[in-house]
Amino acid sequence: MAILSLLAGPALVMAPMTKGSNLPYRRLCQALGATVTMSEMAVVRSLQHRKRSEFALIQRAPDERCFGVQLAGRTADELRWGAELVASRGADFVDLNLGCPIDEFTRRGLGAALLRKPRRVRDLVAAMKQGAGAIPVTVKIRLGWSEDDRNALDVARAAEDGGADALTVHGRTRSARYRHAADWQAIGEVAAALRIPVVGNGDVLFPEDIERFRAISGVQSVMIARGALIKPWIFAEATGQPVDDSPEGRLAVYRRYVALAREHFGDDERGLTRLRPFVVWHLGFWCRFVPRLEDGTYVPMQERAQFLAPRTPLEALLARPEPGVHAWLATRLIAGDEIGPDDLPDDAETATANDLAEAPSG
Ligand SMILES: Cc1cc2nc3c(=O)[nH]c(=O)nc-3n(C[C@H](O)[C@H](O)[C@H](O)COP(=O)(O)O)c2cc1C
Repeated sequence: MAILSLLAGPALVMAPMTKGSNLPYRRLCQALGATVTMSEMAVVRSLQHRKRSEFALIQRAPDERCFGVQLAGRTADELRWGAELVASRGADFVDLNLGCPIDEFTRRGLGAALLRKPRRVRDLVAAMKQGAGAIPVTVKIRLGWSEDDRNALDVARAAEDGGADALTVHGRTRSARYRHAADWQAIGEVAAALRIPVVGNGDVLFPEDIERFRAISGVQSVMIARGALIKPWIFAEATGQPVDDSPEGRLAVYRRYVALAREHFGDDERGLTRLRPFVVWHLGFWCRFVPRLEDGTYVPMQERAQFLAPRTPLEALLARPEPGVHAWLATRLIAGDEIGPDDLPDDAETATANDLAEAPSG
């Protein structure tokens, strides 16, 4: 199982992210250096109901080198079925979501709700192993349900006992959401107690974060989520490739995404209508990028940082957070038009995304 030696490190894993890990964005991140890519979370129940949009989530790009599908489920039967389906569709591994904090899911017993039931976790993983056949089963956990209930070690051991082949630990609890920094030391403690490879996750945005993360946790492989959404070239930085994060360089990356999205969704009007909300959505993360400051430090972009000193008008434009500005930028990016700060219409600041959602063009 080559994937397991890959996960043992030092892998750069693009995190499973609802909406963010769409197929063309995964291809972009892979091209920039991500060694492992993962699908958005797919709910097994919805797959069982043959929901087409859920099936779209588990589709692998033909050139995706190491692709895992993440499932959310809560019974052994449905997860066995789900793992079998995923294996039959050509994924390299199947992952169980034990981290989703959203009430809508946890109320249904999915995602982070399962952190409170380690014994169930063991049974669910064992069932997935049966369904998955030859492909590995991985599990993504948080440190616990709440700060008072940090039981990551119990959950991790339960997953390992159930036969999990690797584990990802997001270094926060469900109740913490993103309120404090990820606890890299706690990730290391879990890794030290297990035999299977562990991937660490949380707050990695710069190459030196990766080095610090490795030094503190002793874990070699990192999974990157918001960093990949804000600056997909983080994978290139991390592998020592030259990176141009000037506004022009960034626009080139965004155009590359649009080209991949056009390939995926189709170049006709229907395809362009489908891809447009993705571009607008990504602009909501791309605008958060702040280059390294002159003194070599950087602002923690995973928090919504204010960019105080854009170096050029174009950089200031790309930092604008207003939906109307994003709608306008999306239209220009999709049309392949030049983007200059002077072209921005006066009403863009106050417009809603819909006001400026012109019919997509070529
Ligand atoms: C937009 C978005 C969607 C996410 N969707 C998922 C998901 O579907 N499955 C999952 O396990 N985690 C999901 N996450 C959590 C990330 O995978 C990751 O664990 C978390 O953001 C911490 O990593 P970071 O500090 O690098 O952002 C999502 C995160 C974001 C920002």
